[in-house]
Amino acid sequence: MKILSVVGARPQFIKLAVLSHEIRKHFNEFIAHTGQHYDYEMSKIFFKNLEIPEPDINLGVGSAEREEQIKKMVSGLEKIFLEEKPDLVVVFGDTNSTLAGAKAASKLKIKIAHVESGMRSFDKTMPEELNRIETDKISDILFCSTQTAIENLKNEKIKGSIHLVGDIMIDTLKLSLEAAEKNSNILQDLDLKPKEFMIATVHRAGNTDDEANLRNIVESFVESGEKIIFPVHPRTAKVLKSYGLDKKFKNTNVAVVRPLSYTDILVLEKNAKKILTDSGGMQKEAYFFKVPCITLRDETEWTETVDDGWNILAGADKSKILEAIKNFDPDGQQNEGYGSGNSGRNMVNVIKKLFSG
Ligand code: UD1
Repeated sequence: MKILSVVGARPQFIKLAVLSHEIRKHFNEFIAHTGQHYDYEMSKIFFKNLEIPEPDINLGVGSAEREEQIKKMVSGLEKIFLEEKPDLVVVFGDTNSTLAGAKAASKLKIKIAHVESGMRSFDKTMPEELNRIETDKISDILFCSTQTAIENLKNEKIKGSIHLVGDIMIDTLKLSLEAAEKNSNILQDLDLKPKEFMIATVHRAGNTDDEANLRNIVESFVESGEKIIFPVHPRTAKVLKSYGLDKKFKNTNVAVVRPLSYTDILVLEKNAKKILTDSGGMQKEAYFFKVPCITLRDETEWTETVDDGWNILAGADKSKILEAIKNFDPDGQQNEGYGSGNSGRNMVNVIKKLFSG
């Protein structure tokens, strides 16, 4: 049996790391990289860091407007699927690469498994929400991280075979943490002491493509006076410059750095006083490390983190962000484990069972 995994953007490499390892214990795997992310720090370093097998092919699609990017990916992937004739295509998360992989497979009537299925923000202005809904509709196997995701799929009357398997990013985190702590020098390199700094990331279109939102976020970081490490995503770097906001960080408490490796990010997250982010993965990682998370969005798919009080939705509202930086101090019980770290194995067991019959 041949499984073809489609990846393209940074969080997908983190998800592929464990699953690829599990898949290869039982099946042949072919990895197709769409090329959505192409900078060394956004792609290659993750394959090296996480010891993921080199992609068998990279479509080199690069940047483009959503519809066009997806179209290019679908046509490239169709050719590969026709040549490779996989029995199952696996897609991850909610990016344009996810939807493109699912669309190409659906067109060729190849079975599709969606990892991190059923997540919903209920905000249809987000490209990620559109990608999730469309992908789930055409997937045959829906692997869910949480019970909430299962309920979402049930409410939408999604047809495929639905399985609660736990969260694959938590698998990767658990497997990587020890080595990360041994190998990373990031605390020394940035001259940081545990729990004396915060870490921030911003890349969602809702924040980067809206100048007022990005300005509020930037100003709240600077005005907080807290030491904030801010690894800047390429999308955000571009717009900060074009809005002239990059200058606001000069000689301030905010240290702007390039995107970091997985190893370095894990170590920074674990040792941070608080995390400010609009990323889904970092909200989960903050929860795992019991680091208070200030989410720079008005809603989240990872609702358990908010329900348990470890995550606060501050949006791009300057006063809410500043208030949370100063006073948000959760200590409640955590009720969601996001699986036991066996999510990859659970998925492969489901695939084995479904395909043996
Ligand atoms: C994508 C995903 C998002 C995910 C994020 C993780 C979609 C719609 N969005 O957002 O869900 O959370 O990845 O990082 O798929 N760029 C570079 N170098 C790169 C990659 C991108 O300079 O290596 C620039 C592009 O030129 C483009 C911008 O960043 O202008 C946005 O890239 P894109 O891949 O469209 O979306 P992301 O913001 O990365």
